[in-house]
Amino acid sequence: MKADELRKMYVEFFCERGHKEVASASLLPENDPTVLFTTAGMHPFVPYLLGEKHPQGNRLVDVQKCVRTGDIDEVGDDTHLTFFEMLGNWSLGDYFKRESISMSYEFLVTKLNIPKEKLAVTVFEGDDIVPRDEESAKVWMDNGLSESQIYYYGREDNWWGPSGKTGPCGPDTEIFYDMGKEKCSPNCGPSCNCGKYVEIWNNVFMQYNKQIDGSYTELKQKNVDTGMGLERILTILNGYTNVYETELFVPVMTRLNEIIKDRKMPLREKRIVCEHTRAICFILGDDKHIIPSNNEQGYRWRR
Ligand code: GLY
Repeated sequence: MKADELRKMYVEFFCERGHKEVASASLLPENDPTVLFTTAGMHPFVPYLLGEKHPQGNRLVDVQKCVRTGDIDEVGDDTHLTFFEMLGNWSLGDYFKRESISMSYEFLVTKLNIPKEKLAVTVFEGDDIVPRDEESAKVWMDNGLSESQIYYYGREDNWWGPSGKTGPCGPDTEIFYDMGKEKCSPNCGPSCNCGKYVEIWNNVFMQYNKQIDGSYTELKQKNVDTGMGLERILTILNGYTNVYETELFVPVMTRLNEIIKDRKMPLREKRIVCEHTRAICFILGDDKHIIPSNNEQGYRWRR
């Protein structure tokens, strides 16, 4: 599977289900002053998640370029990246949990032919503000997952957003692929970082707006924001063990090897050079290209 085929399949699948395709926005957030970069698909949509009418309707699909530095120390492992492409489908006050989860399941299992046994999902276990998400668990089971494939976690794992201090957010259900490794302990599950479970997609049920004082208010409408990592799903579909084996990285690694010739360089360091090079190329190549400097985006670029 090539990256382009996958992007096309994803967009077509959701267009066939009433979504309109929206182009990727800039890596410099246009509609969200709370972040330096577009760290997720949601930033360009903030006004519409808050209730403004989107000119293309209330079901959208996109492939959004993202830069997310929160995981920078993990880069060089098999799957974590600072720059990635996020495949997203959006409901702006239209469908909610049942339709969103059912479409994700259908895309993964029917369209991409991922065996359902290879999936594990997580749902929000609830707290004193938001109840346990039994509804999502039921929809997963109605679609064909067994109870043993469903894990409940708290706010640290199953709550998404906002990236900045304020904005739309909500509980999510996350979809993991079992890489087939042995469990690292009897408690090993999707929240474990041992590499057995790789997160491939999350569906955020955005119905809250976080306020500056830390409280949550209900949004005017219930939205869905999903994000599937293109590089990760491509790795899995091709039977690779890490993103650097995909066509998105092979040319970069080949060029690096040509440059360093016989000099020894640990694999992890090579991966970091490739990953960061790709990220800064996209930042520089963005319509609103950013150059290295001592402040804000330019400072992150330089670092
Ligand atoms: N869909 C939420 C995210 O950016 O991960």
